Amino acid sequence: MAIIPIVIHPDPILRLPTDRVTEFDPTLHQLIADMIDTMHSDRGVGLAAPQIGILKKVIVVSYKKREFAIINPEIVATYGSQWGEEGCLSIPNTRLNVQRASRIEVIGQTPNGKSIRLKEKGFVARILQHEIDHLNGILIIDKGLQLPDEKDYQ
Ligand code: CO
Repeated sequence: MAIIPIVIHPDPILRLPTDRVTEFDPTLHQLIADMIDTMHSDRGVGLAAPQIGILKKVIVVSYKKREFAIINPEIVATYGSQWGEEGCLSIPNTRLNVQRASRIEVIGQTPNGKSIRLKEKGFVARILQHEIDHLNGILIIDKGLQLPDEKDYQ
């Protein structure tokens, strides 16, 4: 079990491009295991490799009973739109309303290099769009709306 320190905004690492994974080897599998441990240690529902300083196209998702990694993920179709609140482990103490597609199709590979195509909706679709944004150097502060805090009305 390895928990890696999370890269925090405005660290420039979060803005750098990422490389496609070509080797589906134990080094990749160790990276995925470390990402899952790190995500859980911070109670996240998703994590992208740049958030632990690794500039590779790897994401992990954990929501309800599903936990999976996608290697080289790419969104190939989007349908509809939904607004919803998001946080980011790289941007502590910030919640923003972000517009996302409500349904998406994603292609990519499993940790063993098998090609996959996922059709997702709702919150898992939201997590996937958030994490894939990280692989392109995009953060929620680039697209989210900050609402006034409810406590300021009291
Ligand atoms: Co994030």
